[in-house]
Amino acid sequence: MNSGRVLVLCALPYTNQVPHIGNIVGSHLPADIFARYCRLRGVETLFVGATDENGTPTEVAALELGVSPKELTDALYRVHRDIYSWFEISYDIFSRTSSPTHHRTTQEFFAKIYDEGYVTEGVLRLPYCENDMLFLPDRYVEGICPICGYELARGDQCEKCSTLLDPIQLIKPRCKIDGSAPVFKDSKQLFLELGKVQDRLESWISSRVAWRDHVTSLALGWLREGLKKRSITRDLRWGVPVPLDGYRDKVFYVWFDAPIGYISATKEWGEANGNRDAWKGFWTDPETRIYNFLGKDNIPFHTIFWPGMLFAHGGLNLPYDVVGLQFCNYEGDKISKSKNWGIFCENIPQVGLDPDVWRYYLVSIIPETRDTEFKWDDFKNKVNNELVANIGNFVHRTTTFAWNNFGGRVAVERASGEEVELVHRVTRLGEESLGLLGEVRFRDAMTKILAIADLGNEYFQGRQPWKLVKDDIEECQQVIHACLMVCDAVAILLQPFLPASSAKILDLLGTPDRGLSGVGKHRERVMLSGKPVIPFRKLEDSELERAKKLATKSRPVSDYFKG
Ligand code: 2FM
Ligand code: ZN
Repeated sequence: MNSGRVLVLCALPYTNQVPHIGNIVGSHLPADIFARYCRLRGVETLFVGATDENGTPTEVAALELGVSPKELTDALYRVHRDIYSWFEISYDIFSRTSSPTHHRTTQEFFAKIYDEGYVTEGVLRLPYCENDMLFLPDRYVEGICPICGYELARGDQCEKCSTLLDPIQLIKPRCKIDGSAPVFKDSKQLFLELGKVQDRLESWISSRVAWRDHVTSLALGWLREGLKKRSITRDLRWGVPVPLDGYRDKVFYVWFDAPIGYISATKEWGEANGNRDAWKGFWTDPETRIYNFLGKDNIPFHTIFWPGMLFAHGGLNLPYDVVGLQFCNYEGDKISKSKNWGIFCENIPQVGLDPDVWRYYLVSIIPETRDTEFKWDDFKNKVNNELVANIGNFVHRTTTFAWNNFGGRVAVERASGEEVELVHRVTRLGEESLGLLGEVRFRDAMTKILAIADLGNEYFQGRQPWKLVKDDIEECQQVIHACLMVCDAVAILLQPFLPASSAKILDLLGTPDRGLSGVGKHRERVMLSGKPVIPFRKLEDSELERAKKLATKSRPVSDYFKG
């Protein structure tokens, strides 16, 4: 990791739905762990998020719910913000793409690429619902598949025979919102000439060293097909208005304005902190590294479309790493709100389990390289056998022993023999764990922490301090001191993953506010700040049953607008 600035960005969630567990594990949590890691390393770090509130997803959801887009986004913004805050996702700013700064930033961005000649005019033939007075997004038109005759084919694709379709190809098309037949109208739109940046994108992507292989190969695959111009405007009312004569009744395509939201939110963070120019350090200084965290469906937009926009604009930083994650399923199937299959975050605070308990399990299913799965059995096993029986047990038996036998004060001038060897091994594992975090490999980094706690438990068991305390108090003190050093290392390393619990352990060890550099550093004297309390409690079956009952019940979005 360089010593320059880091900007951590998490894909901006739409405000047409409440987040489910796959959203947390697939972008917000990994982004948060990485941002915490960077801050703890002493790197100037900014972690930015926002809700993606414009365009079709919001306008259609609002229409279906019978509320205005503003009512919908106001309510869901709060729901999103509160859920991320409950999970201790440490956004420095969590903004909204409906903000005036975002509207202005998008319009200025557009004006620049328009002036530079990257925008052209063209015509699209689009389905229009005369009842709803709305151009319909492709998947809101249904009809008979012209290939296989399936009656419920969608305008973008037939789910039965998989053929990719255009709404105009459907036989007897109808609007999904009210069932009426749409008319097809020509509509003048603006297009981004992606072909003009194809060469630059190609050489940039080929030279990326940090990217995961699947991200690079997906991106190169699209480039091989040749980039075509892509429309950046839509005939909708809800969104950022297009500031160009002839287009003033249209708004920008949601995928055009959303990534600009990363810049707008950075600006807003600066404004809120009294420095309007602070955003420039993150977006124009080439020493800044930008890390984008996102699900695999967002990879094309972050490797092609958004960098293409940035090339057209010029003068702004491209992503350093596009951390494209895979999907997290639930108990053998895709998470689906409509099928009520998954863990729905709105209920999680009522379950009564600490955020760190969730975070611990979720780290183990971050879909870093392949799809993963949330399973309740696995949740119970990982929490009870690893977090409680390995990490928690080691910390608790060590600190309790130190409290009961040494009044919480353990001093050793210089470690010797086996103790030195133990601390060396711990230091090495700690360095490996931090190295893996720097490479954005969370699960492997956590495995190293577990290995440290394993070492500590084995050592404690092997050295039998409960016997030594009677036979050789000096030797016993050496052993407990070494174990406390291992506890210290575990708690330091856990900080990015389990912020509240690691802070409590460090506090108990008398060393709050630690960065990540102190792993294995000898402390002559350890003085516990108070009587140890158990850091992690075993999950009982009844608790899990309750959690399962509460967390798997999805609440319809309409519930937020009752009364
Ligand atoms: O897929 C989604 O949920 C989009 N709202 C992600 C947008 S990411 C960005 F570019 F803002
Ligand atoms: Zn078909």
